[in-house]
Amino acid sequence: MKKIFAGLMLTAILCSPLSPNLYAADGKAIYSKNCTGCHGTEVFTRPDRKVKNRPDLQNRVRQCSYAIEAKWFDEEITAVAEYLNKDFYKF
Ligand code: HEC
Repeated sequence: MKKIFAGLMLTAILCSPLSPNLYAADGKAIYSKNCTGCHGTEVFTRPDRKVKNRPDLQNRVRQCSYAIEAKWFDEEITAVAEYLNKDFYKF
């Protein structure tokens, strides 16, 4: 009986929508919800793009999040930067 209870607790913790890991992984959703007002994804792939490396990308995402007064946590900035890196920048 104790084992079943422990198993249920573990399942509840792992599947919780508040789990920071699951939340942080969703950079694409955070981006799509907040970041499409001023520019599309074409700025990430244009030949003269400004962002030249991974730290640049982190800074630029932070700057743009300030532009929308988003007050993101570092995990959200990192998740969005990771998504942009994976799909567009590929550093
Ligand atoms: C208030 C308008 C605005 C919003 C909203 C906005 N951006 Fe930007 N973003 C800009 C401007 C302006 C630039 C610079 C474009 C240029 O240099 O030509 C830029 C550039 C960028 C770049 C660099 C592109 C390059 O040249 O490599 C990234 C990355 C970026 N934005 C990410 C984001 C993310 C992530 C969000 C969501 C938080 C976001 N932006 C929302 C205005 C905005």
